[in-house]
Amino acid sequence: MSDEKSTTRPLRSHEWFGRHDKMGFIYRSWMRNQGLPDHLFDGRPVIGICNTWSELTPCNSHFRELAEYVKRGVYEAGGFPVEFPVMSLGETLLKPTAMLFRNLASMDTEESIRGNPIDGVVLLCGCDKTTPSTMMGAASVGLPTLVVSGGPMLNGKFCGRDIGSGTDVWRFTDDLKTGKITDTDYYFAESCMSRSRGHCMTMGTASTMACMVEALGMGLPGNAAIPAVDARRRSLSHHAGRRIVEMVKEDLTMDKILTREAFENAIRINAAIGGSTNAIIHLLALAGRIGVKLDLEDFDKIGSEMPLLVNLMPSGQFLMEDFYYAGGLPAVIREMGDYLHKDAITVNGKTIWENNQSAPCYNRDVISPQAEPLKPHAGIAVLYGNLCENGAVIKPSAATKELMQHRGRAVVFENIEDYHARVDDPDLDVDETCVLVLKLVGPRGYPGMPEVGNMTLPKKVLDKGITDMVRISDGRMSGTAYGTVVLHVSPESAIGGTLALVENGDMIELDVPNRRLHLDVSDEELARRRAAWQPPAPLTERGYVSLYVNHVQQSHLGADMDFLRGSSGSQVARDSH
Ligand code: FES
Ligand code: MG
Repeated sequence: MSDEKSTTRPLRSHEWFGRHDKMGFIYRSWMRNQGLPDHLFDGRPVIGICNTWSELTPCNSHFRELAEYVKRGVYEAGGFPVEFPVMSLGETLLKPTAMLFRNLASMDTEESIRGNPIDGVVLLCGCDKTTPSTMMGAASVGLPTLVVSGGPMLNGKFCGRDIGSGTDVWRFTDDLKTGKITDTDYYFAESCMSRSRGHCMTMGTASTMACMVEALGMGLPGNAAIPAVDARRRSLSHHAGRRIVEMVKEDLTMDKILTREAFENAIRINAAIGGSTNAIIHLLALAGRIGVKLDLEDFDKIGSEMPLLVNLMPSGQFLMEDFYYAGGLPAVIREMGDYLHKDAITVNGKTIWENNQSAPCYNRDVISPQAEPLKPHAGIAVLYGNLCENGAVIKPSAATKELMQHRGRAVVFENIEDYHARVDDPDLDVDETCVLVLKLVGPRGYPGMPEVGNMTLPKKVLDKGITDMVRISDGRMSGTAYGTVVLHVSPESAIGGTLALVENGDMIELDVPNRRLHLDVSDEELARRRAAWQPPAPLTERGYVSLYVNHVQQSHLGADMDFLRGSSGSQVARDSH
């Protein structure tokens, strides 16, 4: 394939390494201090391996090894691999939330690629934000790009049963609160849950985004599900290294893969896998970078009628290791064939259908046939109403059916500190029919739109054995979380969205079948409250956080910075000296 489509013009890296002047001396000489021989500078494709390895991002801690396998493939195909680090975002440690830095990491990736002699790039990503941040950055440059996901951890094992990352943390925490498990059990569960390299092995955001990589055509078939420690993850990395060299020769740039059709495929696959609500924000942001028109409403229009096929936590029962053994995403893509744009091109040069049309399924408990789905309609529902003029989202597959149409009294928390201070107060006036409302957790309000939307229920409600209530916020929830949780309310409370005006005792109507979220307060009263509303004082006036707060867009636009939408291409006119 590479021969027939080969381009003949010199590669981009030639502008550095192909020079016979002072600049060529500078560009090559310092590289040679790494022991690189002459022939690597002969005009062969230079492949950047963009590495989000970090010991502070445990999900990506095996990436230096994966990079070595990518390099093997690159060398084998006649390329010149150069590994470079970019800001790595770990979900679990980073305060106040990794999402605050997604756009910063995307800028790091973008400028690292553009400013360097790179012809094509392999993105190594795993933990939630490392996938969208690197893809967004790479999209704003637009070189041939291939994504290698790091793979999920092995299934958690606790007292003879499987436990899932995140999902079982929420469960154990509820159980500890109500005395069903002891402190000792809770502590023991930590190492039972995270027992190998890799990212969360539930269908949380990391697994979802790895599936999105494959569904978009940006990763090789099988990319999503191979466990991090399975030898086939290393083989896949090796293949990726070989393939990116061909992609450079074919000039198979990112925009040829990330088309509107590819995004529609991804939205439909996200429904079929019961994927994370966070994928909405990341796909919207990515589409904004690559110049594809995609709206929040598209997720409902395109995805909400899709069947749920994959029985993984948090919507279902199994975990990523089971998913891989059952056939992984290729088996899902095959089942979803009727709904997909089959001729969407992927990184291996073949269409998504050529890649997956014969994919086997080995376990129908894990991946259902399209004719017998776990749920007939599984995608994201986008709600509108006076409480969310620009939309809000709910994931019906993770919600309680009986609560999908619900009218309840608002119990309002003005910010996250207020929630923590009062939620377990025995005097809190709340029961299971109420609607919990949390303010100031949106992109600007927190800042960074943290995963707190799935607030733990008040202890007095949990003590009754109740496990779900309607919850509403302008924040996100972990992809591993579940419940009747309305998220991403836009406009957010920090900029004076109606959410900011909700008061204790107001009645709120949630009507998912009719896509409605309504605050039952008169327009006159809302106008009165709006006139009296004071915006929160800025948390800081300096640094990245200040830049972020002043430029981040609302969640229905993907929470990217306004100035980062689009692309600046790969050209840099000026030399460094
Ligand atoms: Fe990294 Fe879940 S914490 S993927
Ligand atoms: Mg997460």
